[in-house]
Amino acid sequence: MVLIQATASLYYIFTHAEIKNKLLSELRTLPEGADIDQLIKLPYLTAVCRESLRIHPIVPIVLRTLNQPFEYRGQALNPGDTIGLSLTLLHSNETRWQEPHLFNPERFLNQHYTQYEFAPFGGGARRCLGAAFALYEMKILLATILLNINLEIKPPKNTLPHLYGMIMKPRKIFWGTVNKN
Ligand code: HEM
Repeated sequence: MVLIQATASLYYIFTHAEIKNKLLSELRTLPEGADIDQLIKLPYLTAVCRESLRIHPIVPIVLRTLNQPFEYRGQALNPGDTIGLSLTLLHSNETRWQEPHLFNPERFLNQHYTQYEFAPFGGGARRCLGAAFALYEMKILLATILLNINLEIKPPKNTLPHLYGMIMKPRKIFWGTVNKN
Protein backbone atom coordinates (compact mmCIF):
# COMPACT_ATOMS: atom_id res chain seq x y z
CA MET A 1 0.00 0.00 0.00
CA VAL A 2 2.69 2.46 1.02
CA LEU A 3 4.72 1.59 -2.06
CA ILE A 4 1.78 2.25 -4.37
CA GLN A 5 1.05 5.57 -2.65
CA ALA A 6 4.72 6.51 -2.86
CA THR A 7 4.67 5.66 -6.58
CA ALA A 8 1.93 8.28 -7.06
CA SER A 9 4.08 10.83 -5.20
CA LEU A 10 7.15 9.96 -7.29
CA TYR A 11 5.17 10.49 -10.46
CA TYR A 12 4.20 14.03 -9.42
CA ILE A 13 7.60 14.88 -7.96
CA PHE A 14 9.54 13.84 -11.02
CA THR A 15 7.14 15.38 -13.52
CA HIS A 16 7.07 18.75 -11.69
CA ALA A 17 10.60 20.17 -11.58
CA GLU A 18 9.64 22.99 -9.18
CA ILE A 19 8.24 20.51 -6.66
CA LYS A 20 11.28 18.25 -6.95
CA ASN A 21 13.67 21.18 -6.48
CA LYS A 22 11.76 22.52 -3.50
CA LEU A 23 11.78 19.10 -1.86
CA LEU A 24 15.48 18.61 -2.54
CA SER A 25 16.27 22.05 -1.07
CA GLU A 26 14.31 21.20 2.05
CA LEU A 27 15.96 17.79 2.41
CA ARG A 28 19.38 19.43 2.07
CA THR A 29 18.66 21.69 5.06
CA LEU A 30 18.94 18.61 7.28
CA PRO A 31 22.25 18.58 9.12
CA GLU A 32 24.71 15.77 8.42
CA GLY A 33 23.77 12.72 10.48
CA ALA A 34 20.19 13.98 10.99
CA ASP A 35 17.89 11.35 12.40
CA ILE A 36 14.56 10.13 11.09
CA ASP A 37 12.63 12.19 13.64
CA GLN A 38 14.02 15.34 12.01
CA LEU A 39 13.20 14.02 8.54
CA ILE A 40 9.57 13.23 9.27
CA LYS A 41 8.96 16.75 10.62
CA LEU A 42 9.93 18.46 7.35
CA PRO A 43 6.87 20.55 6.37
CA TYR A 44 7.16 20.40 2.57
CA LEU A 45 7.85 16.64 2.53
CA THR A 46 4.79 16.19 4.75
CA ALA A 47 2.71 18.39 2.44
CA VAL A 48 3.80 16.40 -0.65
CA CYS A 49 2.78 13.11 1.03
CA ARG A 50 -0.59 14.56 2.06
CA GLU A 51 -1.25 15.98 -1.39
CA SER A 52 -0.49 12.59 -2.94
CA LEU A 53 -2.93 10.96 -0.51
CA ARG A 54 -5.52 13.59 -1.42
CA ILE A 55 -5.27 13.44 -5.18
CA HIS A 56 -4.87 9.64 -5.41
CA PRO A 57 -6.27 8.02 -2.28
CA ILE A 58 -5.29 4.39 -2.84
CA VAL A 59 -8.27 3.26 -0.78
CA PRO A 60 -11.04 4.93 -2.81
CA ILE A 61 -14.00 4.19 -0.57
CA VAL A 62 -14.67 3.60 3.12
CA LEU A 63 -17.62 1.34 3.93
CA ARG A 64 -19.85 1.09 6.97
CA THR A 65 -22.75 -1.27 7.73
CA LEU A 66 -25.54 0.47 9.59
CA ASN A 67 -26.60 -0.91 12.95
CA GLN A 68 -29.48 1.53 13.28
CA PRO A 69 -31.81 3.39 10.87
CA PHE A 70 -30.23 6.38 9.15
CA GLU A 71 -31.52 9.02 6.77
CA TYR A 72 -29.31 10.62 4.16
CA ARG A 73 -30.67 13.38 1.90
CA GLY A 74 -34.21 12.11 2.31
CA GLN A 75 -33.24 8.50 1.67
CA ALA A 76 -34.22 6.17 4.52
CA LEU A 77 -31.63 3.49 5.19
CA ASN A 78 -32.07 0.41 7.36
CA PRO A 79 -29.89 -1.53 9.79
CA GLY A 80 -27.79 -3.95 7.74
CA ASP A 81 -27.51 -1.56 4.78
CA THR A 82 -23.99 -0.71 3.68
CA ILE A 83 -23.03 2.87 2.96
CA GLY A 84 -19.85 4.03 1.30
CA LEU A 85 -17.99 7.29 1.56
CA SER A 86 -16.02 8.00 -1.60
CA LEU A 87 -12.66 9.45 -0.60
CA THR A 88 -11.96 10.31 -4.24
CA LEU A 89 -15.08 12.52 -4.36
CA LEU A 90 -14.45 13.95 -0.89
CA HIS A 91 -10.94 14.97 -1.91
CA SER A 92 -12.05 16.57 -5.17
CA ASN A 93 -15.00 18.52 -3.82
CA GLU A 94 -14.68 21.92 -5.49
CA THR A 95 -16.49 23.71 -2.68
CA ARG A 96 -13.59 22.79 -0.39
CA TRP A 97 -10.55 22.29 -2.60
CA GLN A 98 -9.34 24.95 -5.00
CA GLU A 99 -8.48 23.43 -8.38
CA PRO A 100 -8.64 19.89 -6.97
CA HIS A 101 -7.25 18.31 -10.15
CA LEU A 102 -3.89 20.06 -9.61
CA PHE A 103 -1.11 18.53 -7.54
CA ASN A 104 -0.40 21.41 -5.22
CA PRO A 105 1.34 20.52 -1.92
CA GLU A 106 1.24 24.20 -0.85
CA ARG A 107 -2.44 23.81 0.01
CA PHE A 108 -1.35 21.77 3.04
CA LEU A 109 1.28 24.20 4.30
CA ASN A 110 -0.89 26.85 5.93
CA GLN A 111 -4.24 25.18 6.06
CA HIS A 112 -5.65 22.57 8.38
CA TYR A 113 -8.23 20.17 6.95
CA THR A 114 -10.69 18.31 9.13
CA GLN A 115 -11.36 14.57 8.89
CA TYR A 116 -14.59 15.46 7.09
CA GLU A 117 -12.56 17.03 4.27
CA PHE A 118 -9.40 14.95 4.12
CA ALA A 119 -9.65 11.31 5.12
CA PRO A 120 -7.17 9.12 3.20
CA PHE A 121 -6.98 6.82 6.21
CA GLY A 122 -10.73 6.71 6.86
CA GLY A 123 -12.08 7.96 10.15
CA GLY A 124 -13.70 7.28 13.49
CA ALA A 125 -13.17 4.10 15.48
CA ARG A 126 -12.07 2.08 12.43
CA ARG A 127 -9.53 4.60 11.08
CA CYS A 128 -6.41 2.99 9.60
CA LEU A 129 -4.25 1.61 12.40
CA GLY A 130 -1.13 2.04 10.30
CA ALA A 131 -1.67 5.72 9.32
CA ALA A 132 1.28 7.17 11.21
CA PHE A 133 3.51 4.26 10.21
CA ALA A 134 2.47 4.58 6.56
CA LEU A 135 3.41 8.29 6.48
CA TYR A 136 6.66 7.51 8.25
CA GLU A 137 7.54 4.89 5.63
CA MET A 138 6.49 7.13 2.74
CA LYS A 139 8.73 9.96 3.90
CA ILE A 140 11.78 7.74 4.33
CA LEU A 141 11.19 6.16 0.94
CA LEU A 142 10.73 9.46 -0.91
CA ALA A 143 13.70 11.12 0.80
CA THR A 144 15.99 8.17 0.08
CA ILE A 145 15.03 8.07 -3.58
CA LEU A 146 15.21 11.82 -4.06
CA LEU A 147 18.60 12.21 -2.43
CA ASN A 148 20.14 9.37 -4.40
CA ILE A 149 18.66 9.15 -7.86
CA ASN A 150 16.99 11.26 -10.49
CA LEU A 151 14.12 9.69 -12.39
CA GLU A 152 13.32 10.84 -15.88
CA ILE A 153 9.73 9.88 -16.31
CA LYS A 154 7.94 9.30 -19.54
CA PRO A 155 4.29 9.31 -18.46
CA PRO A 156 1.92 6.86 -20.12
CA LYS A 157 -0.94 8.39 -22.14
CA ASN A 158 -3.47 7.33 -19.56
CA THR A 159 -2.37 8.23 -16.06
CA LEU A 160 -5.69 7.46 -14.39
CA PRO A 161 -5.40 4.83 -11.66
CA HIS A 162 -7.64 1.76 -11.73
CA LEU A 163 -9.20 -0.50 -9.17
CA TYR A 164 -7.08 -3.47 -8.11
CA GLY A 165 -8.89 -5.52 -5.48
CA MET A 166 -9.75 -2.96 -2.82
CA ILE A 167 -7.17 -0.39 -3.79
CA MET A 168 -6.38 1.95 -6.65
CA LYS A 169 -3.09 1.44 -8.44
CA PRO A 170 -1.44 3.00 -11.48
CA ARG A 171 -2.96 1.71 -14.74
CA LYS A 172 0.48 1.17 -16.19
CA ILE A 173 3.77 1.60 -14.43
CA PHE A 174 5.37 4.66 -15.94
CA TRP A 175 8.69 4.35 -17.66
CA GLY A 176 11.67 6.17 -16.36
CA THR A 177 15.40 6.27 -16.61
CA VAL A 178 17.46 6.46 -13.48
CA ASN A 179 20.47 8.74 -13.10
CA LYS A 180 22.61 8.96 -10.03
CA ASN A 181 22.35 12.46 -8.47
C1 HEM B 1 -0.60 4.78 2.35
C2 HEM B 1 -0.88 3.69 3.04
C3 HEM B 1 -2.22 3.36 3.64
C4 HEM B 1 -3.47 3.87 3.38
C5 HEM B 1 -3.84 4.98 2.38
C6 HEM B 1 -4.41 3.20 4.26
C7 HEM B 1 -5.76 3.47 4.29
C8 HEM B 1 -6.67 2.76 5.06
C9 HEM B 1 -8.10 2.98 5.07
C10 HEM B 1 -8.84 4.04 4.23
C11 HEM B 1 -8.64 2.13 5.96
C12 HEM B 1 -10.15 2.00 6.30
C13 HEM B 1 -10.44 2.94 7.48
C14 HEM B 1 -11.91 3.11 7.78
O1 HEM B 1 -12.72 2.20 7.52
O2 HEM B 1 -12.29 4.18 8.34
C15 HEM B 1 -7.56 1.34 6.52
C16 HEM B 1 -7.73 0.37 7.49
C17 HEM B 1 -6.68 -0.28 8.11
N1 HEM B 1 -5.33 -0.11 7.88
FE1 HEM B 1 -4.52 1.13 6.49
N2 HEM B 1 -3.72 2.30 5.03
C18 HEM B 1 -2.38 2.36 4.71
C19 HEM B 1 -1.35 1.64 5.27
C20 HEM B 1 -1.47 0.80 6.33
C21 HEM B 1 -0.36 0.17 7.02
C22 HEM B 1 1.11 0.36 6.66
C23 HEM B 1 -0.90 -0.61 8.01
C24 HEM B 1 -0.24 -1.46 9.05
C25 HEM B 1 1.02 -1.32 9.43
C26 HEM B 1 -2.35 -0.45 7.95
C27 HEM B 1 -3.25 -1.07 8.78
C28 HEM B 1 -4.62 -0.95 8.72
C29 HEM B 1 -5.57 -1.69 9.55
C30 HEM B 1 -5.21 -2.72 10.62
C31 HEM B 1 -6.86 -1.27 9.17
C32 HEM B 1 -8.21 -1.75 9.75
C33 HEM B 1 -8.61 -0.85 10.92
C34 HEM B 1 -9.96 -1.30 11.52
O3 HEM B 1 -10.81 -1.83 10.81
O4 HEM B 1 -10.16 -1.09 12.75
N3 HEM B 1 -2.66 0.41 6.92
N4 HEM B 1 -6.36 1.75 5.98
